[in-house]
Order: sequence, then C-alpha cells, then structure tokens
Amino acid sequence: TPRVLSGIQPTGHLHLGNYLGAIRKFLPLQDSYPCLFCVVDLHAITAQLVHDDLAAQTRSIAAAYLAAGIDPERSIIFNQSRVSGHAELAWIFNCVARIGWMNRMTQFKDKAGKDRENASLGLLAYPSLMAADILVYRATHVPVGEDQKQHLELTRDIAIKFNNDLSVRIEALGLGKPIAMGEETVHGYFPITEPIIEGPATRVMSLKDGTKKMSKSDASDLSRINLTDDSEGIARKIKKAKTDPDSLPSEEAGLQGRPEADNLVGIYAALAGTSKAAVLSDFGGKQFSEFKPALVDLAVSALGPVTAEMRRLMDDPGHIDAVLKAGGEKANAIAEETMRDVKSILGMLQD
Ligand code: TYM
Repeated sequence: TPRVLSGIQPTGHLHLGNYLGAIRKFLPLQDSYPCLFCVVDLHAITAQLVHDDLAAQTRSIAAAYLAAGIDPERSIIFNQSRVSGHAELAWIFNCVARIGWMNRMTQFKDKAGKDRENASLGLLAYPSLMAADILVYRATHVPVGEDQKQHLELTRDIAIKFNNDLSVRIEALGLGKPIAMGEETVHGYFPITEPIIEGPATRVMSLKDGTKKMSKSDASDLSRINLTDDSEGIARKIKKAKTDPDSLPSEEAGLQGRPEADNLVGIYAALAGTSKAAVLSDFGGKQFSEFKPALVDLAVSALGPVTAEMRRLMDDPGHIDAVLKAGGEKANAIAEETMRDVKSILGMLQD
C-alpha cells in the first residue's frame, strides 16, 4: 500500500528552496496517498546539540506545513522525537548499514568538514535515522529536493539488505509481501522507497551565486528568500540577485552555462506551476530588467498568503502544539506495528 513521508529539519529559517523543492510538492500528494509530514527534531541535534529555541523552530515548520495547505485531518503532521520508533529503528538500521556507506555520503563530508574525527557520531549515522523515519511507516514515496537523493538511495540499500539478510525469518513469520522494485517485484518486509524529485525547482540555487545551493546556513541573507520575508524584502532580494548581462534565451538549451539565469527561470516556472520552456517562450529575448519585476510580482503573490498564514498560526502556539500531539499519536500507532514486526523478525523477546 502506498504511503508518503517527508521531513524538514527545524534549524534556521525556511527558504524558497524548501518551499519549492519540498513543501509545495506535498500538497497534491495528500489527495492521492496517506501522508505523514514530520519535523525532524532528532536530526536537528546532529550538527549542533544546543539550539536557541528548538520548540519555536519546530512550531514554525509545522506552521509552514499548515500554511501551505496540508490538512491535519487527512495528513499526519508531527515531530519526530515524539515517536520513539524512529530512534529505535534507527539503532537497528545502524546494525544493518555499513560504516563505508555512511562515509560515502556527500552531505556528511560537507557538514563534517575537515575535522571529521570531531563530528558527532549522530552526524555520521544521520542517514540511518532518515531511513528509519521513512521505513518505520513503510512509506513508499518520499518527495524531497535533489540534495536528498543520495540519502534516499541509502534508504533503499538498507531496506534491500534487511529484506535479504532476514528473508528466511520474514517468510517463516508470514511477514513477507510482494514489493515493487523498479520493474521487478521482490518479496520482503520493507518497501523499496521511490524518491519524488520532479519539476523545475528541485535544486534552487543561491541568489548571489548560481553554483551554490540556496541554504539555511548561508551567511548572506541576500542569498535566499526566507518564508518570513515580507513583500519589500522579497522584492529587494530579487532585484539584487546576481545575473549576467545577456537577455534571456528563447529555448532551454540557451540556459546552459548561465547558472543564475537558469535558477531565476526555474524559480519563475515553479512558482507559476509551469515549465522553464514555457517561461522562456514568454520571456525569450527580454532583458533581466523586464524579467525581474515580473518575477517579483509572481513571488510576492505566490508567497504572500503562505507567509501571512504562517505568521497568523505562530500567534497561536497552542493550536500548533495540539496538531503535533494528535499527529504524534496517529504516527505512533503505525510505528508501533512496524516495531513489533521488526522485533519478531530479529527474534527479540516481547509480550
Ligand atoms: P532539510 O531540512 O535540509 O530540507 C527540507 C527539504 O527542502 C529541500 N531543499 C531544497 N530543495 C530545493 N532547493 C534547495 N536549495 C533546497 N534546500 C533544501 C530538501 O531536499 C528537503 O526535501 N535530511 C532532510 C530531512 C529529513 C527527511 C527525512 C526528508 C529527515 N528525515 C525523511 C525526507 C524523508 C533534510 O535535512 O532536509
């Protein structure tokens, strides 16, 4: 049975990349699938143990989910640390995954920097927890931005290894199910999760440097549009965004080697719900002095209602807390079933 899960870390301000690459893609999925949207507070402590106000940051991600239109009656919105199954399954996955797999993760290498010996063990094991987030609900589809692709490949590797290493026990207990793996059907306990990485904004770049990802941790606030920015802020950042001196090409191929132009056209396309090719058929041959004001209008009208709703929700933390609590209870019920199965597969004693 299909099920969707995705997660966002409560660290730093949400930005346009998070919105276009992830949050906005969640919305249509809730019409077709049961969905879980998680605020991953256990992941938040991997790079930095102490945060200024983790509770407020957690609420603001939940507010973004709600403001973007996720319906808590249909989809489950919750924070990770509330459901003990995530950490429990992550431990078991630490014993499935190999150290070499973790060492190869580019995000680990980037985040740990030169002093790898001094990174937390949690930062190394981060993808194992992410696999647990997904598989504790036996989720089949995960909508994310391009930067999470490698982590999702590792999630598949963990599921495949678990299914293989334990296949005899899984079958003996009658817990095996047919599982889709690309074209093939295999038998196992965990699904082989499919990433959903689609559309013109799977990797939104910095407004100051088209070769760098837009990120919560970039020192320059001008590099990103935050979901807390007001209309003037959005307009100022787009006007100051780096461009090249040429006019826009009329075909997508003309964006090659022009990372800043490519990025702004991709942002426009995603906000307008269309493709880069369609944007270029309207703006091909035009200068940035004409394109940028159109992008400002579009960004302000698309983001304005979401950011206003986020601010309104943040004024009522009691409501957000109630949503997270109710979501946590629903999530826990599913996670408990999985943990019961996994413990029996491993031969652990339980009631
Ligand atoms: P995080 O919190 O860094 O980012 C949240 C989501 O936003 C996407 N994203 C982007 N998309 C396009 N352009 C960008 N510049 C950009 N920056 C971020 C991310 O791809 C992500 O979808 N490890 C995850 C959180 C996580 C998770 C999970 C995700 C934990 N468990 C289980 C899915 C399923 C992360 O750090 O995302």
